[in-house]
Amino acid sequence: MAEIRSIGVVGGGQMGSGIAQLAAVNGFEIWLHDADSTALSNAHESISSRIQSIVSKGHLTKEKGAEALRNLRCTSNLEDFRSVDIVIEAIVESEEVKKKLFVRLDNIVKGSAILASNTSSISITRLASATSRPDQVIGMHFMNPPPVMKLVEIIRGASTSDDTFNATKFLAERLGKKIICSQDFSGFIVNRILMPMINEAFHALYTGVATKEDIDAGMKFGTNHPMGPLELADHIGLDVCLSIMKVLHAGLGDSKYAPCPLLAQYVDAGRLGRKKGIGVYQYS
Ligand code: CAA
Ligand code: NAD
Repeated sequence: MAEIRSIGVVGGGQMGSGIAQLAAVNGFEIWLHDADSTALSNAHESISSRIQSIVSKGHLTKEKGAEALRNLRCTSNLEDFRSVDIVIEAIVESEEVKKKLFVRLDNIVKGSAILASNTSSISITRLASATSRPDQVIGMHFMNPPPVMKLVEIIRGASTSDDTFNATKFLAERLGKKIICSQDFSGFIVNRILMPMINEAFHALYTGVATKEDIDAGMKFGTNHPMGPLELADHIGLDVCLSIMKVLHAGLGDSKYAPCPLLAQYVDAGRLGRKKGIGVYQYS
């Protein structure tokens, strides 16, 4: 099993920037790419300020913080990924867009490199089949926010090799995560269970069962969830939640997974959650 030292992360949004931060702090060389130059510079800024905040809280020495920042290279040129050992893709939750990226990456990275996707729900087998290396394609699903949440869900596609699985598992463990393994079915484990709950919370709001505040308080204080389901949807991104529900609905073929019309309407209105300043709630 080849050792992973250098990691390429594609997508500098919520998840990609968190994964890049986590890996840089744990001593890996990171290349971070985003197709949008503003998103890339925002990612660099937010990773730097988070690392400074970890140092100021005394959770990391000044030297380790400086080393983590040196480990991080942001690039607008995907060709810079030539020598990475693994790519972790964290772009928009669209099978078509991800497949196009996997085809490009397959032509850029060295033959031994692993192509991992942080997808929340999309078939790893289908992403893998767009490449010439399906045995080296895997799902590596971090939870939001990646530096804080303890879990990584690993998804084997139909052709994923034992070597690819073992190297990915070893990497996740070096990042300090607990691992769970899922077969390649829509939504895997976590979102198969979490997203129908979030969708049901939208139905409760849509049909006037209760206010958003009471729906959230019910689950937060009644079942000890750290966030209510509507607050959590804002944290994840309503666009991401809607995309996942569509994949569950199409992939599992049961009407119980149909996205709530209110969730779809919020996304149509650009109310994407915390990242846009407005979702179910308004953020200042
Ligand atoms: N990136 C990095 N660190 C972050 C962060 C972020 N975006 N947000 C918060 N943190 C850190 C804070 O700096 C703080 O660190 P210290 O303890 O070292 O000071 C710590 O997390 C706690 O933060 P706060 O005190 O500000 O807030 P909190 O105690 O309310 O915790 C939370 C915030 C960890 C997000 C917590 O509310 C929580 O666990 N919420 C549920 C999150 C969840 O369920 N995530 C999974 C979503 S599902 C998913 O990700 C899969 C998918 O495909 C959609
Ligand atoms: P986001 O919208 O915050 O960020 C996505 C980033 O990808 C944007 O900066 C965008 O510019 C960039 N991008 C889009 N297409 C690109 C391309 N072709 N090449 C390069 N960059 C491109 O999204 P996110 O919430 O970080 O989600 C990213 C992925 O992680 C999705 O697959 C999502 O399902 C998954 N995920 C999300 C969460 C969550 O809670 N948000 C949790 C786990 C997994």
